[in-house]
Amino acid sequence: MSDLYCVFGNPIAHSKSPAIHAAFAVQTAQDLRYEARLAAVDGFGQAIAEFVAAGGKGANVTVPFKEEAYRLATRLSDRAARAGAVNTLVFDGPEVFGDNTDGAGLVRDITNNLGFSLVGKRILLLGAGGASRGVIAPLLAEKPASLIIANRSADKAVALAQAFADMAPLGGGSFAETAGKSFDLVINATSASLSGASLPLPPGIFAPGSLAYDMMYGKGETPFLTLARQQGAARCADGLGMLVEQAAEAFFVWRGIRPGTAQVLAELRAKLVA
Ligand code: ATR
Repeated sequence: MSDLYCVFGNPIAHSKSPAIHAAFAVQTAQDLRYEARLAAVDGFGQAIAEFVAAGGKGANVTVPFKEEAYRLATRLSDRAARAGAVNTLVFDGPEVFGDNTDGAGLVRDITNNLGFSLVGKRILLLGAGGASRGVIAPLLAEKPASLIIANRSADKAVALAQAFADMAPLGGGSFAETAGKSFDLVINATSASLSGASLPLPPGIFAPGSLAYDMMYGKGETPFLTLARQQGAARCADGLGMLVEQAAEAFFVWRGIRPGTAQVLAELRAKLVA
């Protein structure tokens, strides 16, 4: 029997993860099956228990269960502990190992796929929720010159900056407080794009040669990337590459083999714009 993996979420029907992992399995000749599983909003623990009883070897976890997966894990990777959230689980007897590959996926997409080194760069991270928290430590590990977190609710950005202050001196505040500063990389980790909302960013924050990166993706340009382009960002990228790279990192955690991502990403992109 093939080893069994899945992704848990709610909703989950439109997840691209089964197709991504199926492609990775073929490419690396790994004998595995990967399914999408809907868990009830109040039934994540039970869904995990059933999956493990059915022989499940590992799982990805997406909205809204990443914090619950963090609490459910019996052992955490350092990066998951830092993120306060888990997107990758490994089931080994009674042990539930929790990892988080989101930040590694983001950094890999930016540095490898987009060829944009983070060393010495000025980074602005927009948003102070789970998506933002999950990528801070991996971004800092790339040794940027600075990292500032800006959020609609400024107090949450300040608190998040303080939570990582042992790693590097971070700034945290409101969107308005970024006025007069400029950045080499601006990452949108808010969920504003989901509702089609635009962010009230002051003009002038995009330095010459800067990259605007939206962790969201969709058929067309996201509202954040439209704004970034209008405000002079030299390059724009959405989060499809991050999606594929976090999956590749999870695949590596489970199977010890790192799949190539270029072809899978190109195929997903072609389907998205079709
Ligand atoms: P996630 O896990 O996706 O990060 P979250 O923890 O609910 O989700 O956080 C959502 C983030 O998007 C927050 O930073 C939120 O700002 P607030 O902390 O002020 O709520 C931000 N966000 C959501 N909708 C937004 C909007 N329309 N404009 C600006 N920020 C928005």
